[in-house]
Amino acid sequence: MTQQLLVYVPPHPLIKHWLAVARDVATPSVLFRSAITELGRWLTYEAARDWLPTLETKVQSPLDICPATLINPEIPVAVVPILRAGLGLLEGAQTLLPLASIYHLGLVRNEETLEPVCYLNKLPEKFDPQTRVLITDPMLATGGSIMAAMAELVKRGVDPALTRIVCVVAAPPALQKLNAAYPGLIVYTATIDATLNSNGYIVPGLGDAGDRIFGT
Ligand code: PRP
Ligand code: URA
Repeated sequence: MTQQLLVYVPPHPLIKHWLAVARDVATPSVLFRSAITELGRWLTYEAARDWLPTLETKVQSPLDICPATLINPEIPVAVVPILRAGLGLLEGAQTLLPLASIYHLGLVRNEETLEPVCYLNKLPEKFDPQTRVLITDPMLATGGSIMAAMAELVKRGVDPALTRIVCVVAAPPALQKLNAAYPGLIVYTATIDATLNSNGYIVPGLGDAGDRIFGT
């Protein structure tokens, strides 16, 4: 059986609610930022289910020894927010992954070519091959930015099968590119929207995520 990219759209009322708030053009920046934070929290919660490394042990309760499962502190967990907009999702993700290392990657699309330009790269030279990596970026549109991010990570030893992408709106061009290059990868998104307009914006989408998060 050939492997395929897995894309999960968790059917959760809180995810639906905060997506609706984020989509609404009347939502002011301060509330938009909260909506993206909440989406980061709940989508990370879903992504962590079969991704966070655990270890089986025993603990002594006040009454007896019992089997217990803990998060395995030996296996590195990393979050890679794609600046700027990925910072909005990071806030919620970090509440669930307080011990994760955060490696910032700054990418901005050239408005004419839609090609991503890298202006900040805080990735380590090499990742431990067991590292669990969570990438946060609310918008997967043409896929240029997420493909550039994946290439930087894989070059540094990251295993796509141990990587999760948390986004808010994913569009078919980005998902097709990820599927062709990284069939073992898993994406968690609040929605999949059908089209891009001629400026590379997702329709209906939620507009320019970075501008709405930061009020610019
Ligand atoms: C947005 C978004 C993604 C990218 C998606 O960032 O946050 O990173 O566009 O588009 P793509 O799939 O076509 O590459 P943008 O370049 O607007 O920068 P910003 O986050 O600083 O606003
Ligand atoms: N980046 C955004 O912020 N929004 C889109 O719809 C596409 C790319």
